[in-house]
Amino acid sequence: MSIHFDDTNLLARMVGEAHGLTPDEINQSKPVALEALESFRKACDEGLYGFPHLPFQTKGIQEIVRYASDVRGSFDSVCLVGIGGSALGAWAIDCAIRGPHPVQAPFSTQSPRLVILDNVDPSYVSLALDSMNPKKTMVVVTAKSGSTAETIATFLIVREWLTKAMARKTPQRIIAVTSEARGDLKALASAEGYRTFHIPENVGGRFSVLSPVGLVPAALAGIDIRKLCRGAANVTHFCWQPDLEQNVALRSALMHWLIWTRRNKSIQVAFPYSNRLWGTAFWFRQLWAESLGKARNRQGETVQVGQTPVAALGTTDQHSQVQLYMEGPNDKVFTFWEVKKFKNPGRIPKGRTGYESFDYLGGQTLAKLLDAERRSTAAALTSAQRPNCTFSLDQVDEENLGAFLQVLEFETAFMGELLNINAFDQEGVELGKKFTFGLMGRKGYEEYEQSFADYEQKRLG
Ligand code: PA5
Repeated sequence: MSIHFDDTNLLARMVGEAHGLTPDEINQSKPVALEALESFRKACDEGLYGFPHLPFQTKGIQEIVRYASDVRGSFDSVCLVGIGGSALGAWAIDCAIRGPHPVQAPFSTQSPRLVILDNVDPSYVSLALDSMNPKKTMVVVTAKSGSTAETIATFLIVREWLTKAMARKTPQRIIAVTSEARGDLKALASAEGYRTFHIPENVGGRFSVLSPVGLVPAALAGIDIRKLCRGAANVTHFCWQPDLEQNVALRSALMHWLIWTRRNKSIQVAFPYSNRLWGTAFWFRQLWAESLGKARNRQGETVQVGQTPVAALGTTDQHSQVQLYMEGPNDKVFTFWEVKKFKNPGRIPKGRTGYESFDYLGGQTLAKLLDAERRSTAAALTSAQRPNCTFSLDQVDEENLGAFLQVLEFETAFMGELLNINAFDQEGVELGKKFTFGLMGRKGYEEYEQSFADYEQKRLG
């Protein structure tokens, strides 16, 4: 297992019994964790959930690699149009492997940049289009449903922008990633002749990073998706193990479940000490929030569960959030994400200035400072009885990232089992979508337009 999990600072001996877990309660809960593992495995065996199998789909992965290499050289920008689970995975991969925006290496046809249009802010969309050359852009439109308003609206603008420059060649510059069996995007893609990649029906948006949803834009941007999938595949074996020492996804789910439900830590701060993992933190935020925030349990009883995920960046947010974390409500669990090795550790020049606050740093490295800051923050939080734990990655490369994404998905799925909820639906976002369709005049949504009008009337009093 290339991902490690240290939960020492979740223990009562470190943060006291009011906020930390005792060995007895952990031991007594192990059978519950094993039940969660078994019930999730059974559901996967029945074909209900497909994300664990994605890194093993070698034929599909090869097809994407082949396609990306066939078209390489004809574009210097990849424009991804998608939202939520159809955008965040690609951002996580790109930010980790090619570097956090805007400090990536210069882009070229051999190393295209990824521009993600995941919001309908008109100024953002127009600035993004102005920054790309339509003759050198490959567009990827991703929507599993094929009908998400934000994605479709933006895509119509991008398609027109592309058509003005490419005319009849436009379809060669558009790739659709969508469901094979349904949706208007699939129909349009067939009618207009776009290259299409399919999202398996049993893989939901936020669990789809290792499907064509994340892999197509990553491969087009020149990222080695075979290594990414290899890392995920290698770790999957461990994610099915009943031994909690080997299975960090299950152990982390169990420890987070206990600290959340028994010590009322209703907020989880995902705290990467790595700018490269900042995109992954936002991807995780969606995964945790949308999967685990639920009104009802599997029996249909009202439970209204959820743990609010917050993303914080070390060390930046030490100077922004840590005051609150140290002295505010003790309602959080902190999950540090540590990176052990940096390709370039960032040597700090040694020359003496004669000033005390400068000279002790000379000759050391930024990597050492980053590590010292993370360990110091963990120690400070522990001394303030704030439970915290740490995921460690050896380094941020394709294999470790693939492994980490897969571990976090398994952890989320296990957490869903522990909470006895369906982690794979998202009924809560439907009503807002329907109101929007009503307000934008979509046929069939007239009743939502009316109920929105009733709501407005009520506001007026
Ligand atoms: O996780 C999910 O299912 C959602 O976040 C979806 O990814 C998001 O709503 C976008 O859906 P679609 O891919 O259908 O446009």
